[in-house]
Amino acid sequence: MLLWEELPRLISEAVEHAEAVVQSRLSDLSEITEYNHSKVLYAFQAEKVTGYHLTGTTGYGLGDTGREVLDRVMARILGAEAALVRGQFVSGTHAIATALYGVLRPGDHFLSVNGSPYDTLEEVIGIRETGQGSLKEFGVSFDSIPLSPDGEIQYALLEKAIQPNTKMIIVQRSRGYAWRKSLGIDKISELVQFVRAHYPQVIIFVDNCYGELVEKLEPGDIGVDLMAGSLIKNLGGTLAPTGGYIAGKKEYVDLAAQRLTAPGIGGEVGATLEWQRLFFQGLFFSPITVSEAVRGAVFSAAFWQALGFEVSPEVEEQRTDLIQAVKLGSRERMIAFCQGLQKGSPVDSFILPIPAGMPGYEDEVIMAGGTFIQGATSEFSADGPLREPFIVYQQGGFSYYYVKFGNILAALSLFEKDLLK
Ligand SMILES: Cc1ncc(COP(=O)(O)O)c(C=O)c1O
Repeated sequence: MLLWEELPRLISEAVEHAEAVVQSRLSDLSEITEYNHSKVLYAFQAEKVTGYHLTGTTGYGLGDTGREVLDRVMARILGAEAALVRGQFVSGTHAIATALYGVLRPGDHFLSVNGSPYDTLEEVIGIRETGQGSLKEFGVSFDSIPLSPDGEIQYALLEKAIQPNTKMIIVQRSRGYAWRKSLGIDKISELVQFVRAHYPQVIIFVDNCYGELVEKLEPGDIGVDLMAGSLIKNLGGTLAPTGGYIAGKKEYVDLAAQRLTAPGIGGEVGATLEWQRLFFQGLFFSPITVSEAVRGAVFSAAFWQALGFEVSPEVEEQRTDLIQAVKLGSRERMIAFCQGLQKGSPVDSFILPIPAGMPGYEDEVIMAGGTFIQGATSEFSADGPLREPFIVYQQGGFSYYYVKFGNILAALSLFEKDLLK
């Protein structure tokens, strides 16, 4: 029995078109995969990973060489001096918040140069004040400047927004839940050079979620000071059961470690329990899972565009993250899309996603994703806040075929409800 009996003609034509597009991009995409596969493999070899490192520790986790080696492997992959890879990070937001609280002090100002940061950081920063200990409550002020309509950093605005107490500039590599371009490594590199030339004292932080291993270079390779991300996204290779990381210059990673645990304790403790082998193994797989997801995203862009929807990134655009946005234009389409996609999951395929409130988000959110690891967007999921103009964001994918199946089922769900254009 297959996932569907017969496809309506407009869907099967869109599939054929999208497959041809993916075929035409294969050689570009495989070049990046091969490069990153070799880079990750070399990092494991250079740090002499051995069987002993794969077993976890308990309690304080003192003297856990597996943890120390994994930190160094990750630092090499991200072009950084140091890294903190920990199952104690509950999410990407937690890792990012830890980095910010670790480095910023009362009276400091920091500035986002590509618009509002990701939704869940609003309460961390204090843009949405909740009295729960935001950076703003601790006397750290924040501003953001938007990207230009064509997705460029606006340097004239940046110069105006920088203040004598600006300690940090933050950049989001991926688009998040926004209809904007993600920032490629080339654009972030221009920013680093500009900041180094004009404001050498300012720390540059990158929210690296969804960007890792999509291009050949990582933020550390181009001189970024600090970055953070989640292990249930790109770098967990779909195997990491939880966790996040911070990487960058050693002095800043050390400060963040003091915040993750407690001042004076830092990064030298932290049991690695049951997850250490999965962290290593997932990290080793991640260039492949990222590559499958990118191929799936190209399919999705071409498929939905052929069905008459606006997509971002566009079909031919250079990929810089794992996110594919499709502008569906109505609440009904968004619900039908997520319900159809959910039917294609290996886990919870029979569950019907519905919109609901979520901690950290202002609008109702709908999420599809029947994953082995709860919420692991690296496995393939689609979600988005229920707000105009009703954009669904897809991310991840174990395999290209799995992403393709999910998209076809989403389109069938729209078709059955007469919601295809
Ligand atoms: C760009 C970006 N930053 C941060 C996050 C937050 O990650 P998490 O859901 O792991 O907290 C996300 C989540 O999708 C994201 O897209």
